[in-house]
Amino acid sequence: MRLALLGCGTVGSEVVRLLHSQSADLAARIGAPLEIAGIAVRRIGRDRGELPVDPAVFTSDPFDLVKRDDVDVVVECVGGIEPARSWLVEALRAGKSVVTANKVLLAEDGGTLHDAAAQGGGDLYYEAAVAGAIPLLRPLRESLHGDRVTQVTGIVNGTTNFILSAMDTTGAGFAEALAEATDLGYAEADPTADVEGFDAAAKAAILASLAFHTRVGAADVHREGITEVTAADVASAKAMGCTIKLLCIAARGAAADGRETVSVRVHPAMIPLTHPLASVGDAFNAVFVEAEAAGQLMFYGPGAGGAPTASAVLGDVVAVSRNRLAGVRAASESAYADLPVRPMGEALTRYHISLDVTDRPGVLAAVAGVFAQHDVSIATVRQGSAGSGVAGRDEDADLVIVTHVAPDAALAATVQALRGLDTVRSVASVLRVEGSA
Ligand code: NDP
Ligand code: HSE
Repeated sequence: MRLALLGCGTVGSEVVRLLHSQSADLAARIGAPLEIAGIAVRRIGRDRGELPVDPAVFTSDPFDLVKRDDVDVVVECVGGIEPARSWLVEALRAGKSVVTANKVLLAEDGGTLHDAAAQGGGDLYYEAAVAGAIPLLRPLRESLHGDRVTQVTGIVNGTTNFILSAMDTTGAGFAEALAEATDLGYAEADPTADVEGFDAAAKAAILASLAFHTRVGAADVHREGITEVTAADVASAKAMGCTIKLLCIAARGAAADGRETVSVRVHPAMIPLTHPLASVGDAFNAVFVEAEAAGQLMFYGPGAGGAPTASAVLGDVVAVSRNRLAGVRAASESAYADLPVRPMGEALTRYHISLDVTDRPGVLAAVAGVFAQHDVSIATVRQGSAGSGVAGRDEDADLVIVTHVAPDAALAATVQALRGLDTVRSVASVLRVEGSA
């Protein structure tokens, strides 16, 4: 079985090492030895340390490599949309099988890759694209196909989980925790994709597509990052017995007209400390899957890093290689349900709202009236004076309100209206609350 490896960076170089160190076992599991036909990189002369591979296999021409007749499987560890998409479409149309870790491409235009795979008759596997080493996509695309998945809730970005965990543990602000994540090598020099939620949104789109048999793209995902989360938000969450996590939530549900839909969103949220995702610390990932017959399933582990990600890549290489030797291909993309994606405004959630208000008679009634006007039910109200913890007449007071479940649009409109009240000096923070476990 001859492999073309595209990319030999953090992940690709570990794929090479594992291919070498596990070669006998991999050959036994597949029924044929795996050989590297070529490795395409950008800088052919780059120092790659001690890599157990013949330097002659390196090329700077990925197109030429994927088209070669002696290549059976293309393993893509480069990333980005172009030129990766063109390489993989070329390979798939030529009947080769593809293994990729490229979540950005799959979320942006996975349909084109699936169509090319169907056309060429090869396999398209991408376990490493979501949650690194955690076996998660195979369970969704195979093991759970006898069931009906209702919701997938996950922590799928290690960098932001490290930052939020550090803020929770040390009381640090966002900037300080990001600096620590950068120093320790968790956050990249440009952390935008992680802290603004783009990385998690791409993964959410892939998870939703598999869970709900529907093509969901990155543009379908409502996305908010963690840059606005403050130390005060974290302290407020703690006071409620909660912690703050960047969650990806993909859920089935009925739209206002009764039609079945899916909603997919990524945003920071408070979750109770009793929720299974609350204890997922540092840079770990975890995904909580709820299905009608199976009940609640939890997948946990390292979501990034060269070796963990390469483990998932190699697992896929074994699967597609076995299929090729047997002359079969895995089941095609399952997108038959084709469910519409519900707008964020219709997603059902709860808000935790901190208000800085004037402490005098009638203020609470006015605030409560705004919630009532928007058909939002209040679950709890807590009041203290700003700073001292004891409310005094005609002074400022902190009002912390947690709602019951309501459509996000109604909750957002409530917050907007609160900002317009004379007695509300400021809306100090707004966070969603998820998982009533
Ligand atoms: P790196 O930046 O470490 O490596 C990228 C590799 O691609 C390098 O070898 C680079 O060549 C090569 N490359 C870049 N552009 C080209 C080009 N135009 N032609 C040929 N080769 C090119 O990335 P990672 O290994 O971190 O990530 C690879 C993929 O894995 C991405 O899709 C990423 O999202 C995904 N992934 C990464 C994880 C991680 O923890 N790092 C976790 C899960 C998924 P050169 O070496 O010469 O610069
Ligand atoms: N930047 C990603 C993370 C890498 O922090 O989880 C894995 O996709």
